[in-house]
Amino acid sequence: YDLTSFNTLTLRSHALALVTYRSPGQLPLFSEMASQHDSVFVLGGGSNVVLPETLTSLVVKVESRGIRLCDQTPTEWVVEAQAGECWHDFVAHCLDQGWAGLENLALIPGTVGAAPVQNIGAYGVELDQRFHSLSAWDLRAGRQVEMRPEDCDFSYRNSLFKQSEPGRWLILAVRFRLPKRWTPVLGYPDLQRHPALQAVAADITPRQIFDAVCEVRRAKLPDPAVLGNAGSFFKNPVVDRADFEAISKVHPQVVAYPLAGGQYKLAAGWLIDQAGWKGRRVGPVGVHDRQALVLVNYGGASAADIMQLAQAIKDDIALRFGVALEQEPVLVA
Ligand code: EPU
Repeated sequence: YDLTSFNTLTLRSHALALVTYRSPGQLPLFSEMASQHDSVFVLGGGSNVVLPETLTSLVVKVESRGIRLCDQTPTEWVVEAQAGECWHDFVAHCLDQGWAGLENLALIPGTVGAAPVQNIGAYGVELDQRFHSLSAWDLRAGRQVEMRPEDCDFSYRNSLFKQSEPGRWLILAVRFRLPKRWTPVLGYPDLQRHPALQAVAADITPRQIFDAVCEVRRAKLPDPAVLGNAGSFFKNPVVDRADFEAISKVHPQVVAYPLAGGQYKLAAGWLIDQAGWKGRRVGPVGVHDRQALVLVNYGGASAADIMQLAQAIKDDIALRFGVALEQEPVLVA
């Protein structure tokens, strides 16, 4: 099974065994199959993974569909989407129905089921702020479980699902709480500065934020359909005040956001850019020329190519700034 077109980095990859998930009736069989393989790998949109050339795990490709309003309270809509739905289409569909609150997360590649795994976030909103609950199949125990926010261990680009043994959880459906009385989230600099949003000021609509986010993303981030990439390849590192002060003494321009508790989140894109990597190409891979946090595949690359480039960047950033970069996409063994 060729997976080259099922990972947005378009890394050369194939799987020895693959099943497609469409509906719950298949789940007991999947658990049985899982027990016959050393490991299982759940593939959604393939937008946050580095796949090996040969994947020996049993691959479960998620293609379930369906979106419905499943509950409401006086203040909230509760909307459920099946895991295989395209994330961006789901966000757009919600807006069409009048369910606002996810517009800052427009145009993030991938599926609904993958969204909680890395707790997707952009332009001032993270998934966990809108998360209600999810249904997952425990492939090891062979049973369905319902999970509330506190069960999922969400933090910055992280969750229980990213931390626990790979292939244990198959996320089936995710539910979101969307406010009936909507308020815009405009704190992020790219939105604050946006001319169309400034012009409408107090009368702003969710649709206008959706459009602005799409525009900003299209200007900065490469479209995976055109140039292979997995979005940000590194997390923005969090450092202590002392480390931040040491760096800003040498580099007064460093981009950093103070966090509660006295720590600072550094813009990894700025560090990599400053180090001169932006636009640099190494064989079939390179660093994007408009956003240094994004590594790209010009065509024909394997996991080894991308990991080598990532390591060279990590080493250089450690040397120059004393900062350890952490990879964001999941490296699949
Ligand atoms: N910067 C540079 N040079 C670069 C890239 C960035 O100097 O090449 C500077 C920018 O000028 C800005 C700062 O770094 O001052 C931050 O850049 P940006 O606003 O583009 O955001 P980011 O920190 O690079 C994060 C997320 C993105 C998300 C945006 C918007 C992470 C790892 N990345 O990127 O998420 O879309 O903020 O909220 O947190 C993803 O996770 O795949 C992703 C794309």
